[in-house]
Amino acid sequence: MDHFIAGGAGTAFITGASSGIGATFARTLAERGHGLILTARREERLQALAGELRERFGVHAEVVPADLTRDTDLDRLVELVSGREDLSYLVNNAGFGTMGRFVDIDAAKPRNMLRVHCEAAVRLSHAALPGMIALGRAAIINVSSVAGFVAAGGSAMYGSTKAFLIAFSEALGLELRDTEVRVQALCPGFTYTEFHDSPEFKARWDRSDIPKMLWLSAERVVHISLRALDRNRPVCVTGFRYRLIIALARNPLMRPLLRRFSKRRER
Ligand SMILES: NC(=O)c1ccc[n+]([C@@H]2O[C@H](COP(=O)([O-])OP(=O)(O)OC[C@H]3O[C@@H](n4cnc5c(N)ncnc54)[C@H](OP(=O)(O)O)[C@@H]3O)[C@@H](O)[C@H]2O)c1
Repeated sequence: MDHFIAGGAGTAFITGASSGIGATFARTLAERGHGLILTARREERLQALAGELRERFGVHAEVVPADLTRDTDLDRLVELVSGREDLSYLVNNAGFGTMGRFVDIDAAKPRNMLRVHCEAAVRLSHAALPGMIALGRAAIINVSSVAGFVAAGGSAMYGSTKAFLIAFSEALGLELRDTEVRVQALCPGFTYTEFHDSPEFKARWDRSDIPKMLWLSAERVVHISLRALDRNRPVCVTGFRYRLIIALARNPLMRPLLRRFSKRRER
């Protein structure tokens, strides 16, 4: 199948490109010949990745360090994408998790999560869209999560900000149906990245708590996302197992089981 966006066409703007799923989007899209604008807080990581991709694939790769919790940094990125007519991809991928009951977490965390997951995606999409529509074939990929479908204690902000991204992406996609811009909510399940390496996760959680069959590589997640984009699927859940889990979790008969799972996570 031909790709929805032809190889080499335009530039991909990727947030959270310093590791995990974002860095994998960068590698995959560079391999297809797209230019890159990479952003995240860790500049050395971004520079190393940009250097590697320039050398391996001969693409243009620009680095813009930014902390999406800071107004001035987000303003700068919004300005950077406004008016451009070469953005074929906007990948709103930056994100982080928290563990513990909402009432107990540090007050800065919910605010920062709203900014990184929701405000950044909304403002960057708004700024980039006119140029993307003018360009023709282009895509916005908002990296949500399976957690956006399943209410679970211990991550009230995470699940609800990711649910926002699903609703926002679906509605935006509908509004853009007469253009050549596609919008995808990418909903990965557990993925091997640095996401679960934060001190907060390490103190309370271990990857081995989750059965191996539920883990995916970042390469697999990105492959599934780009294939779903080619097939024009606006909500992309990574794999049959997760589609089944979501269907079961939405069944009222499963509520008691979910309540028990939630309780364990809130400790
Ligand atoms: N891994 C999973 O199991 C999983 C499952 C479902 C969904 N997701 C989602 O996938 C996305 C990517 O996460 P990942 O799994 O690839 O984890 P990761 O390896 O930890 O990558 C997260 C990225 O977000 C960036 N980021 C975090 N806070 C930021 C901030 N304040 N400003 C700018 N950038 C920031 C990080 O860069 P810096 O630290 O350099 O700023 C990093 O590049 C996230 O939205 C996450 O919610 C992950």
